[in-house]
Amino acid sequence: MDNRLYIFDTTLRDGEQVPGCQLNTVEKIQVAKQLEMLGVDVIEAGFPISSPGDFNSVIEISKAVTWPTICALTRAVEKDIDCAAEALKYAKHKRIHTGVGTSDSHIQYKFRSTREKIIETAVRAVKYAKQYVEDVEFYAEDAGRTDNEYLARVVEAVIKAGATVVNIPDTTGYCLPHEYGAKIKYLMEHVDCIDKAIISTHCHNDLGMATANTLSGVINGARQVEVTINGIGERAGNTSLEEIVMITKCHPMLNIETNINTQKIYPTSRMISSLMNMPVQPNKAIVGRNAFAHSSGIHQDGVLKDVSTYEIMNPKDVGIDDNSIVLTARSGRAALKHRLSVLGIEVEVEKLNEIYEQFLRLADKKKEINDDDILMLAGADRSTNKGIKLEYLQVTTGLNIRSVASLGLRISGELFESAATGNGPVDAAIKALKQIIKRDMTLREFTIQAISKGSDDVGKVHMQVEYNDVNYYGFGANTDIVSASVEAYIDCINKFRD
Ligand code: KIV
Ligand code: ZN
Repeated sequence: MDNRLYIFDTTLRDGEQVPGCQLNTVEKIQVAKQLEMLGVDVIEAGFPISSPGDFNSVIEISKAVTWPTICALTRAVEKDIDCAAEALKYAKHKRIHTGVGTSDSHIQYKFRSTREKIIETAVRAVKYAKQYVEDVEFYAEDAGRTDNEYLARVVEAVIKAGATVVNIPDTTGYCLPHEYGAKIKYLMEHVDCIDKAIISTHCHNDLGMATANTLSGVINGARQVEVTINGIGERAGNTSLEEIVMITKCHPMLNIETNINTQKIYPTSRMISSLMNMPVQPNKAIVGRNAFAHSSGIHQDGVLKDVSTYEIMNPKDVGIDDNSIVLTARSGRAALKHRLSVLGIEVEVEKLNEIYEQFLRLADKKKEINDDDILMLAGADRSTNKGIKLEYLQVTTGLNIRSVASLGLRISGELFESAATGNGPVDAAIKALKQIIKRDMTLREFTIQAISKGSDDVGKVHMQVEYNDVNYYGFGANTDIVSASVEAYIDCINKFRD
């Protein structure tokens, strides 16, 4: 069997379905170009019929990217397929990804249909997509809970209709690794024309088994894996690209090869985390802050004697370059530019100057500037063009007194000022803000995270504010956590759709 494993990245489609992580078209192009550099084979760029934004992003990504196949998702519905074909018109290599639910639960409750009718729908959709593109992938949604015998009939029918790739999603993340592997094996052994198509895995992580299931699928014959950077995705996320790629690299016995340039993994992970405002858990395999940090005395002793005692891979292989992580106020523009580029961010001179100014201001407050600070600075312009800006903030707080905040907001050039008391400095500041922005809005979620260590650290604040039954997500970062909190609240308000 061929040992080449195709990497299908769905960060921009399944990954982007995470609430609060939506990217604009410019950001999506930036991600797509980074994925191209990383060496992915397929980029799932969006679900064009779902919104004009998604449609437009697929068009722009198709124009911007050369080597990877650009894929667009559809339901097994003609108007979806027409729309995807239109969005893909500029792609050099294009694929339509169409499909329908095949589990009894989907057939009975979602479609109120029958197994036979679902096979007809699937075949019709594949044939319809084939009119537009040669490369058609079919997904059997909820294949994880679909009876294997019936699934084999679906797979055989769609391959005969022209599907080049057949995706077997464990949509609910329910399968056990041996079960999922057995499903792929069953298809490999029972579908007549299986050699005419590639079988793909698409595993969700609801029970923490996405990577194990994907690997089990590969061991049993799947040759495409659908993955996301940092494992992001709806609910508990998808299989993470970095885990599958590094498993195959660290285990040559598997005899699996990918086209991934592993040294681009870490910069890509940082870029996604920063653009999507989604922190990576410190103990995340491969890309977490602690993934290569040996803190116990016994480990440090071993690593100093010989790294192989406790390290199964070289951090440099995934692009972690620990020599130059720290910048200080004495670092010049060139060092900053180099660090940005290691982190996957290429900037023009003007933008570099802008970031450098902010960098110097931060370096005045903080001795050492780390990667997260730099990413924050590079993304810190996200809200500068928005309607409301925090002009100033002053807070008096302490033990056994009520906190008092006064602030000024610049709205369309005009300054509005207010003061309020509260249970704490953030409460007081937000009350003052609400006296100016008189909307019926409720704070639903509020997290503060220090980036690394030290009392001079930058605090990152994520907030979720409900307004008109919609949840808006906002972000703020500052060495002063009250300012960061107000900035995050303002970021939410600036996103309100009235
Ligand atoms: O999880 C899933 O089943 C999917 C399909 C739409 C491919 O994302
Ligand atoms: Zn999915």
